[in-house]
Amino acid sequence: MSKTILITGATDGIGLETSKKLSQRGHIILAHGRNEEKLDKLKKELATTGRIETYLADLSSKDAVLYLAKEVAKNHSSINVLINNAAVLKTSDVMTTDGLDVRFVVNTLAPYLLTKKLLPLLKGSGRVINVASAAQASVNFHALSGKKLSLNDMEAYSQSKLALIMWSTTMSKQVNPNETIFVSVNPGSLLGTKMVRDAFNIEGKSISIGANILVKLALHYKSNTISGKYFDNDLNQFRIHHPDALDKQKCHDLLKTMNDILKLS
Ligand SMILES: NC(=O)c1ccc[n+]([C@@H]2O[C@H](COP(=O)([O-])OP(=O)(O)OC[C@H]3O[C@@H](n4cnc5c(N)ncnc54)[C@H](OP(=O)(O)O)[C@@H]3O)[C@@H](O)[C@H]2O)c1
Repeated sequence: MSKTILITGATDGIGLETSKKLSQRGHIILAHGRNEEKLDKLKKELATTGRIETYLADLSSKDAVLYLAKEVAKNHSSINVLINNAAVLKTSDVMTTDGLDVRFVVNTLAPYLLTKKLLPLLKGSGRVINVASAAQASVNFHALSGKKLSLNDMEAYSQSKLALIMWSTTMSKQVNPNETIFVSVNPGSLLGTKMVRDAFNIEGKSISIGANILVKLALHYKSNTISGKYFDNDLNQFRIHHPDALDKQKCHDLLKTMNDILKLS
């Protein structure tokens, strides 16, 4: 059966490859990007064989995330899968217009806000796939709140990715898994994308390694067996969480801080 799949950061790297693979399998692709030209190019390519809609939004802006959620909800009463894939690692522009660290905003807060807003559409066997990383470090709450903007690229990225996993596993306990499940995944380390080339100046491994696991998590695996889990594609298996993602108090504090920043209840 054809599924409706929203994927953020669909214009490059793993997101682009995943969109192509899912489209080739007959699924409806709601492709998000921040660059209109790249989105148009993807639309032209996928429209020849499948059904695709495109959505433009810069995820470093809260208003843009809200607009994205609204546009998707305007066009669809339900979606089957949300793949929160867009992320930033290396950037010269650390601070957003809201005075927050862009790495936390794009990698942690935007997918959280988008997921919260789209939850009603994901009811009834919906899946949220959160693309994390093997790079994970304990979250500095001052940095998350924009009170400390001096983290280096890797520090901020690793913290933002553990924060993503922490809210993913927390939400999996708050939401009925028969309605919506949440899975986080390290798609594989040092895959040859723009992010890896820019940060590490290496060619990297095949992007398909990452795209294949996202396709598998979006379409296969029995839903009720995987909610709240973390798949590590470097090991090709579900793996025990970082201790912070198992720490109820830390997860509670993280969610509270994120809700305060985003002014959510
Ligand atoms: N590559 C790896 O080895 C690796 C390893 C572990 C985890 N990951 C994760 O895999 C996911 C995909 O990364 P990738 O390696 O494919 O990187 P990538 O090629 O740089 O793709 C990142 C995507 O995110 C989009 N994006 C970045 N900032 C954005 C913003 N402010 N607003 C909206 N979209 C934005 C980019 O848009 P543009 O196309 O406009 O640039 C691009 O489509 C990320 O979550 C990353 O952390 C990758």
